[in-house]
Amino acid sequence: MRPDPEDETLRPARFDDFVGQEQARENLRLFVQAAVKRAEPLDHTLLYGPPGLGKTTLALLVANEMGARAKLTTGPVIERKDELAAILTDLNEGDVLFIDEIHRLSRLVEELLYPAMEDFKIDVMIGEGPHAKSIRLDLPRFTLVGATTRLGMVTGPLRSRFGIVERLDFYGVEEMEAIVRRSARILNVQVDDGGRRQIAERARGTPRFANRMLRRVRDYAQVRADGIVSAGVADEALTMFGIDHLGLDPTDTNYLRALMEKFGGGPVGLNTMAVALSEDEDTLQDVIEPFLIQVGFLNRTPRGRMATPQAYAHLGLDLPRNGAQQEFL
Ligand SMILES: Nc1ncnc2c1ncn2[C@@H]1O[C@H](COP(=O)(O)OP(=O)(O)O)[C@@H](O)[C@H]1O
Ligand SMILES: [Mg+2]
Repeated sequence: MRPDPEDETLRPARFDDFVGQEQARENLRLFVQAAVKRAEPLDHTLLYGPPGLGKTTLALLVANEMGARAKLTTGPVIERKDELAAILTDLNEGDVLFIDEIHRLSRLVEELLYPAMEDFKIDVMIGEGPHAKSIRLDLPRFTLVGATTRLGMVTGPLRSRFGIVERLDFYGVEEMEAIVRRSARILNVQVDDGGRRQIAERARGTPRFANRMLRRVRDYAQVRADGIVSAGVADEALTMFGIDHLGLDPTDTNYLRALMEKFGGGPVGLNTMAVALSEDEDTLQDVIEPFLIQVGFLNRTPRGRMATPQAYAHLGLDLPRNGAQQEFL
């Protein structure tokens, strides 16, 4: 898999440059230091959390801090066992193998990973038909770093083979400001305190969005203003791009409106929402809903998705009378 080229220049390569995620960062820093001291590869590591929060960045950063070579791939592109076997046998001692979207590995491929992770061995079939035989190969000691947006879809046997499991969560506004400050410096964009604050507050706690917004707001500042991203300029630009003061974009607003206007605010099932919005369920569940839950506009209940009274207030809509939302009051 090729990471988004937009992200590349801005990825912090050292723990000291990685803002926020204190728990995950400090745990990993400790485990890396210990492994380096013992001159051993790091334990297999699983990173999970919503998109754009730094999973790929941390994986590459860990490899860098280990002084290791990183090899990148992604779950859905490894279709057959022999493809994974080729990747594994190509590794060198100490390498970091990063598998993004690891929950999307097929079951057969995944089973090959178990002995590879546990004992650094794999069984491969040589030859075909009646003469085929299975031989056991030794692998170099490597570190598997897996990333997933959906921990619940990583099978138990796979999950239990990771010695380190770390969760990434949405960033706070101050952390987002620090990220915008750093990115502006690297990209050479002039942003004042107010402009930085606007972007930090409206980037939905997600560094990838902050970096993207910074670039688009810079474009706006260069064409419509004097090139400096002030609070006013950032506000105008983000409003023009359809991003409201909490960072909701038209996709989020459409989601909430559909939930409220077509389904009385819920509860409604994920598949129904997906049909109503012509989106696939994974996108709703992994990309759109986590932030709506984070800002308190959406609840996932056993009976389905429900809009909260705060969501009605945010969109300026009246709460349905005797609606299910009354339960929240
Ligand atoms: N803690 C952080 N500090 C600074 N920049 C970050 C941080 N986390 C992520 N980024 C930036 O956000 C972008 C997306 O991060 P990425 O690691 O690709 O997210 P994920 O793999 O979780 O989807 C990258 O360009 C990276 O530079
Ligand atoms: Mg990633």
